[in-house]
Amino acid sequence: MITKFVTAGVLCLGAALSGCSTAEYAGSHDASYGMVTSQAKPMSMSDFDLLKKSVLFSDDDVRYLRMSRSVLEPNVDELLDVWYGFVGANPHLVHYFSDRTTGEPNGDYLAAVRVRFGQWVLDTADARFDQAWLNRQLEFGLRHHRLKKNTTDGVDAVEHIHFRHLVALHYPVTTTMKPFLARGNHSEQDVQGMYEAWRKAVLMTTILWSQPYMAPEDF
Ligand code: HEM
Repeated sequence: MITKFVTAGVLCLGAALSGCSTAEYAGSHDASYGMVTSQAKPMSMSDFDLLKKSVLFSDDDVRYLRMSRSVLEPNVDELLDVWYGFVGANPHLVHYFSDRTTGEPNGDYLAAVRVRFGQWVLDTADARFDQAWLNRQLEFGLRHHRLKKNTTDGVDAVEHIHFRHLVALHYPVTTTMKPFLARGNHSEQDVQGMYEAWRKAVLMTTILWSQPYMAPEDF
């Protein structure tokens, strides 16, 4: 267990889901102390406004994400079956849900994360992209990174998800949504609008989750 505290700034373990406003991360942490030190804060609203411009994310996208909520909600389980089927069919991905000693997939861990994944779908569709949401994105990035992976579920799985796969999953996660978005009684134009909004939202998500993977001055 890495125990060194590097810089000022504190991230409340577990509290960031409700928006730990001082969230920062660093190169090391010790969960037993219930805090993580860090060099970077969650993105500010002003920087996020610029990021939205960079990905051409507009008020129309907010409207389309919210439109998608009622279409997706009854289908979340099936959508998760598709995503989990994809991960399960790829040993190099299921690896990250596996016990670091035995190499066996941890079914309880998979199931616990699946519940949070379902909630993430609905939260993203809600499109309340405020500071609390930005704080949560840093937390979710940390949970993919060795800084906080495994701590939420208290598991001894593989300690870190490699950055390349975090970015790569943008494609399968979004492309597999399209048939689900077509399940509502919306026009083809609206289905396309929802799809584009989701592609941008997941892209912004993966950008925000990338933060723990790089030097603060590079992010
Ligand atoms: C577009 C890319 C990705 C998205 C949208 C995504 C989504 C999520 C969500 C919503 C959670 C739950 C966060 C929480 O509430 O705690 C999560 C956790 C997790 N994801 Fe991802 N994920 C992505 C990439 C990946 C990749 C490439 C892997 C590798 C197989 C992966 C494996 C995991 C694992 C193991 C957890 C649990 C982490 C922990 O210990 O807390 N994810 N992911």
